[in-house]
This record gives sequence, structure tokens and C-alpha cells, in this order.
Amino acid sequence: MSCQFGSTRRSFMKNSAEFTAAAALGGWGVGTAFGTEPQNCNSKKPPAPVKWTPDTNPILPRLPASSLGAADVIKLRSAYTALRKLTVTSPSDPRGWLQQGDKHCWNCGGGLDGQAGEEIHGSWLFFPWHRAYLYFHERILGALINDKSLRLSYWDWDNNADRAIPSAWVTPNNSTNSLFDANRSAVAGSQLPTSLVGPAIMNPILGSATFAQIGGTNATGGNLENGPHGAVHIWCGNTSLAGPAKADMGLLDTAAQDPIFFAHHANIDRLWNAWLTASPTHKNPTDSSWLTHRFTFWDEKARWVFITVADVINMSANLRYTYSNTLLHLPFPLENPKILHLTTDANKNLILPDDVKKRITSATASTDSQLKTLRVEGIMLPHDAQGIYRIVANKPSATANEVAGTPNDLGYIAVVPRTSKDAGGHMHGAITVDLNVTTQLSQLMQQDGKLSLSYVPMNGEAKGTRLQYSNVYLVER
Ligand code: C2O
Repeated sequence: MSCQFGSTRRSFMKNSAEFTAAAALGGWGVGTAFGTEPQNCNSKKPPAPVKWTPDTNPILPRLPASSLGAADVIKLRSAYTALRKLTVTSPSDPRGWLQQGDKHCWNCGGGLDGQAGEEIHGSWLFFPWHRAYLYFHERILGALINDKSLRLSYWDWDNNADRAIPSAWVTPNNSTNSLFDANRSAVAGSQLPTSLVGPAIMNPILGSATFAQIGGTNATGGNLENGPHGAVHIWCGNTSLAGPAKADMGLLDTAAQDPIFFAHHANIDRLWNAWLTASPTHKNPTDSSWLTHRFTFWDEKARWVFITVADVINMSANLRYTYSNTLLHLPFPLENPKILHLTTDANKNLILPDDVKKRITSATASTDSQLKTLRVEGIMLPHDAQGIYRIVANKPSATANEVAGTPNDLGYIAVVPRTSKDAGGHMHGAITVDLNVTTQLSQLMQQDGKLSLSYVPMNGEAKGTRLQYSNVYLVER
């Protein structure tokens, strides 16, 4: 299982029709800059970084990918063309496309040799590190075409109308388009399923009461990272979500070689911002160990700089961009959720207190439409876990197909592998998820009178396994 990505990827690179076509078309004008999975992704760095300082570029919105006009697309494509050329004409330039991809690899477990820098996934560093990474990427793209107004664009897959991979990245779907990636299976018209990014999945995430829930803590990743973030990675690599992936996005060490990575992460960044602005009770951590944490990057002048978490929090004043749309229209109140810690009986069934059970069991749609979520903390998956796992109620040995679309299907966890060799992704630690049980819970209690949790790989005939976790809360709002 752990080698499936590797062998597929290698044969894909050698044999694929797209590869041949791309080579024949001459790639991006200067040779053909295709990446491979890095053996080692450590670039040479000067001993000490200098402090980053903000520039005075105009503050401009990042636009949704679905709304880009022809001129926006031409600008973005010419910048990515220049980025790819830099890798060919000056492979050691730290700003080039492949070197930037390796920067991401270095901070997510490293390449095939396992040598790595600071891990920025699976904790509260996930949001601010990727914000800084996108900022420097945006600055480098703008500098390469000498245009201070270039801003990234975001793929807002959380909007039902925009679940398809944005067309500028896939039309044309060959290397004459600098936003194309040969190691991607999403093509024009490919659409993320609502079972991965629809409202039933997004509502509990956007309704998170605390930063720890949505953005993680110093030891755990947030629900946005563990869910849709990972699912979109895996899906871009292999839209069928079955069998081996054709993956740049599907592996963390190659993900940032695909330009769609930056549109995907711009959306993660926008959702962080949207969550913050949705309620005065939504706040970033105030811990000084988070605020003073330093990240190092190459800037647009190829200077080795450090930037702190506190620097990136003020994105418009410091990083000179905003988002064109940050409104969350959520059909439930964000303040004062009712939180109930659930214990388990000897058979590992979760115990609902009698009054709660009675209320939920007798509820009808009209009396009980407020969002209910199960917050499951401290989930431990096997070390070699990778891909998407559905979380299942009350049917511990069912296959994913047997529960798909039933009230037993509560949501999922997505684990993006680090490399083709290192199954298990970056999530070696405990995982926390927030699962929507708004309508499911009363149906489950009426059917079975109990609640237990298991997990099952999303595809194939594998049977489920009991879930190992530390705490479960029922959250009602
Ligand atoms: Cu650094 Cu989407 O991963």
C-alpha cells in the first residue's frame, strides 16, 4: 500500500499521453519544466535571515478564480510562465517554480530521504505559515512580470457553484497553459463532490467556536486542515478517489509544484479570514509562542528573510491584500453553543443523558433544525493511514459503499501522504474533527437507540474499524 503512489507516478511520468503531448508542444517555451518527487528538498540557505518588512504596494483584493476576466488570466499565466522559465534558465534561483515547490516539501516532512525542516502541518502553524508562503509566492510572481498589482486568486470550492476546478487552470489542459500540471487528474468540468465540500461538511467547520477547532493548537491540526483541505489535495491528484493517485497535489512533497495548490490555499486562507470576521467571539490565539513564532522564506529579491506570525495576522496593512468576499451566510447562530461532554458505556457506545436523548428522539424537523455537531478529539489512526476515511455511526464493520448517503455516514478525515514512500502523511499525532449530526442523530437514536463510532476507507471493499479517540462532545447551536 505504501508504494502505490510511487510506482504509479513513475510510470505516469514515462508513459502518459499528456507527457508526450506536453513535450511535443515545447512546454512553457523554454524546455519542459516537469517536476519529479524530490529525493532531498533542502535548499542551501544563508546562515542568518534578515527581518522582513512590509512594502507599500497597493492593497488589492484576491478574486475568486471563477470571476477572473481574460486580462486577469493572461497576467497570471505570464507570471507562472516566468516562474517556470526561471527553474530552467537558473535552476539554483530560490524563487523558481521547482525551488518554491521544494520549500513546501521541506516544511512538510521532506522528500524521499526524509530530511526535513520545521513541520508546519498538523498544528496552529498551518494557517500562518501557508499565508506567508502564499504572500512570498505572490510577490515573486508579481516581481517576475514587474507588476505590483498581481494578486493570487482563490478557488472557493465551498460555494456550491464553484466546486469544479477553475477553468483557467485546465483550459487548455496542456503545457501551453502555465497553470496546467501534468500530474493532476482533475480536468475541465471535474467537480468536487458535495460529500467532501458541501454545506453538511462546511457548516460545522465554519461554525467552529474557537481557533483551536478550526485552526488547531500547538499539538493538533484544525478541522479545516483535517477535512476539506486534505480532501481537495487528494481529489486534485485523483478525482476518482479510488486506487493509486496521479499526484502532485496528492502528495505533500510535490503538491506545490501544481499551480492549483496556490488557488486552493488562497481559499483556505480566505476561510480563516472569513471565520474571524463572522463573529466578534472568533479570535486568533493570543499566546506569545504563536505570535512570535518565526518562519523563513526567500523574498522577491531573493533575500533570505524571517517573518513572524504576528506579522501575517494583519493581512491588509502588512501583506497588502484582502478578499473580495468574506461573508459567511450560516443558517445558525455562532454564539453560545451548548456543549455536552459524552461518556461511553462498557461497549464503547456514547451515552446521551436521558433528557437529551428524549428531546433528540422525539424531535421533528421543525422543532430541531439547529446545527448539531459531534466534536471528536484525539482520534488515532494507524501509522500507515492515507487517503479519505468516512466516519461511520453504529455500523462498525460496514464498507464505505454500504453507508454512503445514509444517516450512518457522519463525515470524513482526509490524510494527505507526505511522500510516495511515507504513508501516514504528516498526521502522526491525534486528529480532531467536527461532524455534522443535525438530522442524523435523531434518526440514529430512533433506529438503534445508541451511538458508536467507526471509520472506513472511502473506497474499496475494506470493512470499518472501531474508532480510537479521547473525547467526544455534542455541540448544539
Ligand atoms: Cu502545506 Cu495543503 O499543504
